[in-house]
Amino acid sequence: MISKKMTDALNEQIALEGYASFLYLSMATWCGNEGLDGCEKFMQRQSEEERMHMLKIFEYMSEVDAIALTPAIAQVPHQFETPQEMFNMVYKHEQKVTKSIHDLLKIAKVENDYTTENFLQWYIAEQREEENLMRSILDKIKLIGKSPMALYYIDKEIDAVNTAEEKATEA
Ligand code: FEO
Repeated sequence: MISKKMTDALNEQIALEGYASFLYLSMATWCGNEGLDGCEKFMQRQSEEERMHMLKIFEYMSEVDAIALTPAIAQVPHQFETPQEMFNMVYKHEQKVTKSIHDLLKIAKVENDYTTENFLQWYIAEQREEENLMRSILDKIKLIGKSPMALYYIDKEIDAVNTAEEKATEA
């Protein structure tokens, strides 16, 4: 059994992961409407991953006999200026998620809640990977610059990331 404080904090994390899933789905739709098929596919996969992050917490809470709450998700934005603005928003959101995971870990440590501490380690590694991925995408977008063909090349680069991620998943 975990504490009430930890239960509440995990439920807040569920809401954060759920928001990320809906935000990335909205971004995928915007990309599709802009003809950025590579970005659309990428954001769809990110959205699925966030849903999986959320469900993992549901499962964990059930295992430790805590009640997981299905979150009310605030309306996410639907309009984005450019892929750069969009990926900046993703990177900022991921940083927020990382901080939130670290805060959860602090609670677990103070409460000597070794089970939750162990559960959170997966998220620590996942956040390091996600932040790194978003930073590398932003670096590529910066390198490509703002030429008339920039959107085309950005989309191609993101599609190359899709292929690499798919291969990594299969391996
Ligand atoms: Fe589940 Fe990318 O935060």
